[in-house]
Amino acid sequence: MAIHGQGESSGKVILMGEHSVVYGEPAIAFPFYATNVIARLEDLDTSTTDQLVSSYYIGSLPDAPHALKNIKLLIASLKEQHHILGNLRLTIESTIPAERGMGSSAAVATAITRAFYDAFSLPLSREQLLTHVQISEKIAHGNPSGLDAAATSSLEPIYFTKGHPFDYFPLNIDAFLIVADTGIKGQTRAAVKDVAHLFDVNPQETGQKIQQLGYLTKQAKKAIIENSPEKLALAMNDSHILLKSLTISNDLLDTLIDTARFAGALGAKLTGGGRGGCMIALAQTKTEAQEISSALLEAGAVSTWIQGLGVHTYA
Ligand code: PMV
Repeated sequence: MAIHGQGESSGKVILMGEHSVVYGEPAIAFPFYATNVIARLEDLDTSTTDQLVSSYYIGSLPDAPHALKNIKLLIASLKEQHHILGNLRLTIESTIPAERGMGSSAAVATAITRAFYDAFSLPLSREQLLTHVQISEKIAHGNPSGLDAAATSSLEPIYFTKGHPFDYFPLNIDAFLIVADTGIKGQTRAAVKDVAHLFDVNPQETGQKIQQLGYLTKQAKKAIIENSPEKLALAMNDSHILLKSLTISNDLLDTLIDTARFAGALGAKLTGGGRGGCMIALAQTKTEAQEISSALLEAGAVSTWIQGLGVHTYA
């Protein structure tokens, strides 16, 4: 019998709490439907190995480059767990820019896991999905908090604290978010490691900054519940100052953040692992968001997206 399965997943945006989430502080993230991944799986009678078809690499999966090790191991562990012996062809189509803090690796793992369970008509619980995605994320990121896995597989915004049950809440705020890609690969793994090093050499100061980031995330949640874009923007601005002091920003991120504020953004910060990747800015109206987006593209962003935050999600 021919096997065919398909799985999808979206990108994600971390609104608040990147890095501090690794240390047990809360974070707010949401699925970002403007970007997505589709994975397809079919059985292969004619091949001696699993095959991968993607924009990055086409060929035998076991021979894929090191950067795809997370996918190799994910497929191997899915097959082993479910006693699948035959070879498979995995096709990945993604509009999520890789290594830009948009959760590309977690989204790919989510889509693959869903495609696998679909192909073999197996029921997939949220816990099983997250366990598989974490296997892949550990290889991609080293010490992931689980936030990316949770946000890319979610249908709703998430208030995430490592090791705690997920807390979903409506992102119902009268504002628009602009996401801008620096075009520079983010360096999540190195940045997470460097924050850990700062902790080792200066535990008191670093610990305080992490706690302040957590406090700002809580303030941001309050601001969202009260529908106060101004308060959310303040929390975003203060959070960027702290992330910068933890060495997580870079020149282009800082330039784009200044540009967004100059062009009328209420607030702006980096998003995700940092040192490249994306920044986000908050605007009151869609017209202002479009103006900020144009200014960001002029200042060097390679792509921008605009998303309504709840009240205007479908505007
Ligand atoms: O760069 P991204 O989008 O994968 O985000 C990483 C978020 C961190 O908090 C820096 C790490 C983590 O595991 O939560």
